[in-house]
Amino acid sequence: MTAQRLTPSLLLLLLVVVAGAGGARWRGEGTTRHLESIIRGRCAEYVARLNPDQRDKNCTALWEAFRMVLLRKDPCSVFPSDYDLFINLSRHSIPRDKSLFWENNHLLVMSYTESGHRLMPLCNVLYGRIGDFLSWCRQENGSGLDYQSCPSSEDCENNAVDSFWRRASMQYSRDSSGVIHVMLNGSEPAGAYPDKGFFADFEIPYFQKDKITRIEVWVMHDIGRPKVDSCGEGSVKTLEDRLRKMGFQYSCINDHPPVKLLQCVDHSTHPDCALKSGEKGNRESFLYLAKIPQLRRP
Ligand SMILES: *[C@@H]1O[C@H](CO)[C@@H](O)[C@H](O)[C@H]1NC(C)=O
Ligand SMILES: *[C@@H]1O[C@H](CO)[C@@H](O)[C@H](O)[C@H]1NC(C)=O
Ligand SMILES: *[C@@H]1O[C@H](CO)[C@@H](O)[C@H](O)[C@H]1NC(C)=O
Ligand SMILES: *[C@@H]1O[C@H](CO)[C@@H](O)[C@H](O)[C@H]1NC(C)=O
Repeated sequence: MTAQRLTPSLLLLLLVVVAGAGGARWRGEGTTRHLESIIRGRCAEYVARLNPDQRDKNCTALWEAFRMVLLRKDPCSVFPSDYDLFINLSRHSIPRDKSLFWENNHLLVMSYTESGHRLMPLCNVLYGRIGDFLSWCRQENGSGLDYQSCPSSEDCENNAVDSFWRRASMQYSRDSSGVIHVMLNGSEPAGAYPDKGFFADFEIPYFQKDKITRIEVWVMHDIGRPKVDSCGEGSVKTLEDRLRKMGFQYSCINDHPPVKLLQCVDHSTHPDCALKSGEKGNRESFLYLAKIPQLRRP
């Protein structure tokens, strides 16, 4: 290879190195574009439409409290308590028997809970709704937001987003009462109950025992996927032992039927989704109905 032929690739390499050096500082997603509009909008929609009981909440004050944490703190020194004022201004009661805790099935939880009307998981409480799926952090040593990248838990423990969810999880747990529902993912290779996670570390320890009547766990398996964990086994057994030791009444259901029906909407022809009424005729007619679109295809 001649020097002349090498030059373009060397230049390209240099460009890549320079771009890398000036690029992402952290491993996490950068601040969500239009963060302020999204947060103000979500708050406004929540109090006006989703949960009008909260109409007295002041969305401007909420944004100000959130922004104060966002802009005053270095991206790796944000602590859960920094969000105290924000949580104080946004917290509200959670209806008895309506709490739903979960790990590793965010989208299924969202579709099952119907914007908080069926059950009210953290993402349907005002403070949880505000942060759901968003990312945020200030520039390191700077005064603006970092839109390129934000610290993830691998970069530092006390990052803005994880500390937010720790604080929010603690509040949600303290304010939950009656029957506690827990939806776990029995197809998750690492186990349905992660023993390091928001539920294990920031929710279970904050349960108010005198307000809780019992805990009901649902282990959901993805349709047609291997069952990694089930009630009474593996990591679910670990959870059960922990809750029993804490003195809670505990029960567990594999593939809770109402949630499974929802999963089956996308898998209507899968054998696991055949409705079993005990009568052969009904089962066959369900399978038949499920097949109609295919029969109609030219
Ligand atoms: C809402 O909060 C803002 C900022 O703290 C304040 O200026 C405003 O007066 C408050 N609005 C009401 C209706 O309390
Ligand atoms: C939040 O409210 C609690 C009790 O309601 C109070 O003890 C605490 O000081 C408040 N924190 C802030 C930052 O306002
Ligand atoms: C359950 O976990 C598996 C493996 O991580 C994932 O592919 C699947 O989407 C999860 N199920 C739900 C309902 O989120
Ligand atoms: C921010 O300041 C610290 C301490 O002065 C320094 O170690 C770090 O490299 C700076 N970061 C950036 C992105 O300038």
